Amino acid sequence: MTPILETRSLTKAFGGLVAVNDVSIQVEEGSTHAVIGPNGAGKTTLFNLLCGNFKPTSGRVFYRGQDITNVPLHQRAHLGIGRSFQIINLFPNLTVLENVRLAAQALGHDNFRIFRRASTIVSYVARAAEALEIVGLQGQASVPASVLPHGGKRKLELAILLAADPKLLLLDEPTAGMASEQVPELMQIIERVRSLGGRTIVIVEHNMNVVMNACDRITVMNLGQVLAEGTPAEIGANKQVQDVYLGELYDLPGAHA
Ligand SMILES: Nc1ncnc2c1ncn2[C@@H]1O[C@H](COP(=O)(O)OP(=O)(O)OP(=O)(O)O)[C@@H](O)[C@H]1O
Ligand SMILES: [Mg+2]
Repeated sequence: MTPILETRSLTKAFGGLVAVNDVSIQVEEGSTHAVIGPNGAGKTTLFNLLCGNFKPTSGRVFYRGQDITNVPLHQRAHLGIGRSFQIINLFPNLTVLENVRLAAQALGHDNFRIFRRASTIVSYVARAAEALEIVGLQGQASVPASVLPHGGKRKLELAILLAADPKLLLLDEPTAGMASEQVPELMQIIERVRSLGGRTIVIVEHNMNVVMNACDRITVMNLGQVLAEGTPAEIGANKQVQDVYLGELYDLPGAHA
């Protein structure tokens, strides 16, 4: 089967620093695929190459078998590639619902039309409401985004992403800055997105609970390169991975197999 996403020898250099170095990965359609690795490993740079924010120095990116290496960011979004950012990007004075509706509308293809049919607006609101329900924010739809606690803002960010109805979601550290008791909620959201079907998730994550329990496959990066690739059990038992992570995987079942 054609992977939904594939990179071939993808490389990005910043001057002398090769942030992503000869990375070849395949992501299976419908899977949840984690990209892990220490700080500075090149994970965010890889995401920037996947969503079209950066042009690679060399190598190719394929989406559903199509070479999209030179397709710009906004066109990739229309193809169904959506990404979240490590840094939260919201309209603080607009309501939670408005933030999501704007995102739904931005990819609604008719955003330059001055007179929209009322029914279209209603459908954007409905789509936004649905996205809020997936992330569990339906109760806070009418409050300004600024009043949400940090964890709520991270959920809103996911709703904004979902409102554009992407088929491939690139999530860069969705639990960053979240209190540990909120992490299970995030995992439930991922499960809900998965249960909707037809979506593939690539997730950069430092929280090993999320990586080991919510993901089908894991790519481990270190110093810009792919160090290992496999199932959570395989990665948990990989000695090289344990060394790079300096015992972060210590308590995982199978980590010392
Ligand atoms: N725009 C840029 N210009 C120059 N160097 C950059 C740029 N973006 C990233 N780098 C460098 O590339 C390397 C990889 O950074 P990247 O942000 O991709 O790592 P990361 O794996 O996402 O790390 P973290 O876990 O800390 O988020 C780092 O050495 C970083 O300093
Ligand atoms: Mg990063």
